[in-house]
Amino acid sequence: MPDSSTSQSNAKGLFQSGTAKDLLRVLTCGSVDDGKSTLIGRLLFDSQQIYADQMTSLQSDSKKFGTQGSDIDLALLVDGLAAEREQGITIDVAYRFFATKARKFIIADTPGHEQYTRNMATGASTADLAILLVDARHGIQVQTRRHSYIASLLGIRHVLVAVNKMDLVNFSQHSFNTIEEQYRDFAKNLGFNDITCIPVSALLGDNVTAASQHMAWYRGRPMLQHLEAVELSSQMDETGFRLPVQWVNRPDSGFRGFCGTIASGEISPGDEVMVLPSGQRSHVKQIVTMDANLSVARRHQSITLTLEDEIGVSRGDFICSTDHLAGLSDQFQAHLIWMSEKELFPGRSYLLKTCNTTVATSITSLKHKVDVNDLSHQATKTLHLNEIGVCNLSLGQPIAFDPYGKNRTTGSFILIDRMTNETVGAGIIDFSLRRASNVVWQDIEISRNKRAAQKQQKPAVLWFTGLSGSGKSTIANLVEKKLYDMGRHTYILDGDNVRHGLNNDLGFTDVDRVENIRRVGETSKLMADAGLMVLVSFISPFREERQMARRLMADGEFIEIFVKTPLEVAEARDVKGLYARARAGEIKNFTGIDSEYQAPKNAEIEVDTTSSTAEQAASQIVDYLEKEGFLDFDENP
Ligand code: ADX
Repeated sequence: MPDSSTSQSNAKGLFQSGTAKDLLRVLTCGSVDDGKSTLIGRLLFDSQQIYADQMTSLQSDSKKFGTQGSDIDLALLVDGLAAEREQGITIDVAYRFFATKARKFIIADTPGHEQYTRNMATGASTADLAILLVDARHGIQVQTRRHSYIASLLGIRHVLVAVNKMDLVNFSQHSFNTIEEQYRDFAKNLGFNDITCIPVSALLGDNVTAASQHMAWYRGRPMLQHLEAVELSSQMDETGFRLPVQWVNRPDSGFRGFCGTIASGEISPGDEVMVLPSGQRSHVKQIVTMDANLSVARRHQSITLTLEDEIGVSRGDFICSTDHLAGLSDQFQAHLIWMSEKELFPGRSYLLKTCNTTVATSITSLKHKVDVNDLSHQATKTLHLNEIGVCNLSLGQPIAFDPYGKNRTTGSFILIDRMTNETVGAGIIDFSLRRASNVVWQDIEISRNKRAAQKQQKPAVLWFTGLSGSGKSTIANLVEKKLYDMGRHTYILDGDNVRHGLNNDLGFTDVDRVENIRRVGETSKLMADAGLMVLVSFISPFREERQMARRLMADGEFIEIFVKTPLEVAEARDVKGLYARARAGEIKNFTGIDSEYQAPKNAEIEVDTTSSTAEQAASQIVDYLEKEGFLDFDENP
């Protein structure tokens, strides 16, 4: 018998690379509660695909951890390795491979919501068919609808609804029919080519690999026979040759090879190619692999290309066939699946990762979210965990791409939180928005240096952050007076004031505060460009947005000033009477009370208002500016 670990890693390769017609890639959707693990275990078990070593450990594990008394607990077969189980850790995507006479199968099984990320990010979204598990006792759940919608978004065209635990509803035909009717009605607009519903009991084995003895009323095929027979409709990925470059191999000056996995199409030596984003053309010289040079290479193969001409190619570039070019854009409309406990902040800067490239991005508008129950569109300002929305994205630089409808690999991406590195969303590109290319940066003759020089000063952004009532505005005012008296050109952007004008459409939810700071960050950048010393006095409670503001400015121009006042002190002062109202529940989302404040960790200046007066704090800041050379002026920078 084959060794199971090798078989599983081979299976992963096959899942991504299999092109054979007799290979069916299956995605399973549902939770352990629905009996997913038991079902997959049963499929493997009944089709005799359990390896000898697994069988032995399964018997001992069933006694130790099983939920089935002295019987073998098939779920344990699927739920991972003993050590991980004991620690309660869920494993990565598990690819299980099995074969019958009729067909080979790869089943991708992923725990929890990670399913979405993995499918989209690792190419598992090449699945042909989705098995949706439904518990016969509970019927169609929101999760079933969500999984169906995502499967449809991901381009899966075949669905098998396994109505499980039929034994717990007395194998009732009526229960099954009701679920089937409900599901078909829900899924009618999802674009599936075929939907097959099968009543099963994974635990007892009914209708999994063999027809059920308990459900004579069911005339269809058992699951395995259906999986063997289902006819696949044509694949997507209509784009031409795409090699997203993973790395440039330069062992010596004589060789330069571009390595990566072919995302679509095929290539031969002599073919003309174009590199994106640069647009340079060349011809393929050789296709190098570990074994030999190839005369042709296809989708999913990992290769190294050499080109006839010396042209610049770096990681993340696309090498494309010239007859089917990929698109190039920095503005997209996309469907986004949100996967973080923390909601989406449209104005925030996230990292977008796709095909070996990572670029900064932000959501410029959230058009709507989709109610997965009836697929209706709802206006929204954010997305919460598992919600799906349509948005416009703006990227820090253009990337090569294809719409997802044409290429599942080059049309999908994930979003990463810059601070925590957590994958927070997964998306598919609907199309590029041409806007950006129409708006070109206008070169202006008077440079920022000239503007500052005329004022005989260095521009700077003094960013005051701290709780409401901490003393930010008071200290900023005093600092401005001192600078003014020294002949400096300054401006104060104060939260309370800006919220009366530019930001009068924003409230105090986290989402609105992110946008508040994004706007004031951009405004202070313009003012620094104009040559001013800008004093920004906003609570600015989140580290990420203060970082974002810092990134907007020229190096060394951003000075973060933490006005450190403990909540008790700010609350005791309660200059505006707002704390009392917040405590009385009259004001919601009040910073420090029921809304978070993330204190700076490395602010350039920290002023402690419990040990110094506002006047002393202002002097401390001006001293810093003097000491660090912010008040010097060099005629010829
Ligand atoms: S920020 O969090 O988005 O940076 P900003 O500095 O613009 O806040 O506005 C804070 C000011 O709004 C406070 O000084 C206070 O006067 C007022 N305010 C009204 N409601 C709230 C609230 N819920 N939380 C904090 N400040 C509030």
